[in-house]
Amino acid sequence: MSLVDDARKVRENAYAPYSKFKVGAALRTIDGSVFVGVNVENVAYPEGTCAEAGAIAAMCAAGQTRIAEVAVIADSPEPVSPCGGCRQKLAEFASADVKVTLATTDGLLQETTVGALLPGVFSQDHMSRT
Ligand code: THU
Repeated sequence: MSLVDDARKVRENAYAPYSKFKVGAALRTIDGSVFVGVNVENVAYPEGTCAEAGAIAAMCAAGQTRIAEVAVIADSPEPVSPCGGCRQKLAEFASADVKVTLATTDGLLQETTVGALLPGVFSQDHMSRT
């Protein structure tokens, strides 16, 4: 099963009663493990979390921190674009060349990279004087 298939399957479990916009994310780590996540909304809207954040949390909970590949899927007209915060979260655990596949439930695919998604990423280097 491809990473997009993993994301597609887990998306069904997204908790999105407010936006009705279900998102699934899957990531593979450098040892080959796959972790998945969904968006989890809350009646206090800002407390909701994105699918990518869920997958990253599952990865960290399993003791892993290096992402090798990512897939994100939603029922959108164009492949879903990760939010700015999730781009920064992915960059924490993935090198710039890591492949990210953005997908629609209709089967559209767009391939990009963590680096292309976040030019000018904030990094540890910016804090080198501290
Ligand atoms: N959402 C994600 O889970 N990931 C993204 O990359 C974009 C947006 C979620 C957050 C919210 O639950 C819903 O999509 C609508 O913004």
